[in-house]
Formats: sequence, structure tokens, C-alpha cells
Amino acid sequence: MKRKLLTASLFMLSAAMLGMSGTTFADDDDKGGGFMSRWFGGNKPGVAPVTNPQYLEECGSCHFPYQPGLLPARSWTRIMATLDNHFGENAELPAEDARMIKDYLLKNSADGSGYKRSVKIMNSLRSGDTPLRISKTPYFLKKHGELRPEMVVSNPKVGSFSNCSACHTQAAKGSFSEKEILIPNFGAWEEDDD
Ligand code: HEC
Ligand code: HEC
Repeated sequence: MKRKLLTASLFMLSAAMLGMSGTTFADDDDKGGGFMSRWFGGNKPGVAPVTNPQYLEECGSCHFPYQPGLLPARSWTRIMATLDNHFGENAELPAEDARMIKDYLLKNSADGSGYKRSVKIMNSLRSGDTPLRISKTPYFLKKHGELRPEMVVSNPKVGSFSNCSACHTQAAKGSFSEKEILIPNFGAWEEDDD
């Protein structure tokens, strides 16, 4: 029994180390990925699309209905506990609706997801981090660091990094691939290979 446990933890350790190097050469959904990214980077591209009609209705009325796989469960728990003061708005829901939506979010959160972008977001967080915004996670900041303010905050057709679907034309399907990006007034994003 003891021996089995030790073997298992050695395997996990080497898997974690391999996983880290795996992320550096297979970061783009379009590039296939191969064995390393399938095992260690999440085997499905993008994030799981939203399937819950109630979530789409209640949490998609003011903004893009962010997929549950974009944040860890602990973030959703905190967001659902503070809906009365939600980024300066009151987004409170009847208790029963809130309970069902929270349940849906927690069951489909980024923790333990096999989707690539969920894995990347989780890997960028420390275990105690509880971001309330996807757009403040280290992975998001790294990916969007090259965007100039005139493309986002001072772009009347975008306004904020929270407006995912303004630039990611297939965001509603859970797909954020670079070749699908179209920044209003600026056009397609030039892909680079690093
Ligand atoms: C009354 C309007 C309203 C409703 C309803 C609403 N939100 Fe929001 N939400 C906002 C505003 C405003 C922001 C901040 C947007 C910005 O900074 O541009 C926001 C931001 C967010 C963000 C952070 C986005 C980022 O920048 O990464 C998350 C996550 C979020 N909302 C989740 C939810 C969930 C889950 C629900 C449903 C329970 C919900 N929202 C319902 C108004 C709303
Ligand atoms: C102003 C336009 C814009 C907005 C708004 C925006 N993005 Fe992006 N996003 C981009 C661009 C451009 C890239 C590619 C950056 C690069 O790799 O050089 C990108 C990259 C990404 C990637 C990595 C894709 C890949 O194949 O590497 C993900 C995931 C992503 N965005 C998710 C989001 C989410 C989720 C939101 C909303 C919370 C969002 N983005 C809001 C423009 C935007």
C-alpha cells in the first residue's frame, strides 16, 4: 500500500514537471498540440460551452455569459455570494434561481476541467487566489498584454476587457482561437508563432 502511494506520487510529480514544459510549445488551439498537450494541457480546445438556459438568461442579460470553465469554483462561490454588490450593480436573484445557477457554475468550473483554456487559467493561479474577474487572472493578462487602450477601453465598440464577444467572434461557442479574433475598427489579429 505504502509503496503504491509512493509510485503514484512520483508519477504525479514527473507529470507536473513534464506538464510545465509542455505548455511552452503547444499553447495555441490551432496548432494541434500532440501527446504532451493532450495529457497535460487539457485535451479539448477552448472552454466548455454554456448549456444551461437559465444561466444564459440570468447571467447573460448585462454582459457576455462567461463560461463556468473560465474561473475556479472558489471564484464563482464568491461572485454568487456578493450579487447585491456586483461590480457596482445589483445583480441579486431569487434564492432558488441563485442556488441552481451556483450549482451549475460549481459543477462546471475550471477546476478539474479537461478543456485547454480552463487548464491554462487554473495553472496561472496560486492555490489561494480567488479572482472575481477572468480579465484579472494572470493567464488572461499575459494573453492580452499587447492590446493597446484604443483597441479596448477607448474603443466605443468594445469598452472593456470584460466584453469577450466583441473581439472573439466564436466566444459563445467556447472558442477563443486566434484566427477567429476580429477587433472592431482594427480587424483581424495577426498571429505570431511564439
Ligand atoms: C445587472 C447587470 C448584471 C447582471 C444581471 C450580471 N452581471 Fe456580471 N457584471 C456586471 C458588470 C457591470 C460587470 C463589470 C463589467 C466591466 O467591467 O466592463 C460584470 C462583470 C462580471 C464578471 C467579471 C468579468 C471579467 O472582467 O472577467 C463576472 C465573472 C460576472 N460578471 C459574472 C456574472 C454572473 C455569474 C451573473 C449571474 C449570476 C452576472 N454576472 C450577472 C453586471 C451584471
Ligand atoms: C479587445 C479585444 C479582446 C477582448 C475584449 C478580449 N480578448 Fe481575448 N484575445 C484578444 C487577442 C487579440 C488575443 C490574442 C493575443 C495574442 O496571443 O497575441 C486574445 C487571446 C485570448 C485567449 C488565448 C487564445 C489563444 O489561442 O492563445 C483567450 C483564452 C482569450 N483571449 C479569452 C478572452 C476572454 C475570456 C475574454 C473576456 C473576459 C477576452 N478574451 C476578451 C482580444 C480580446
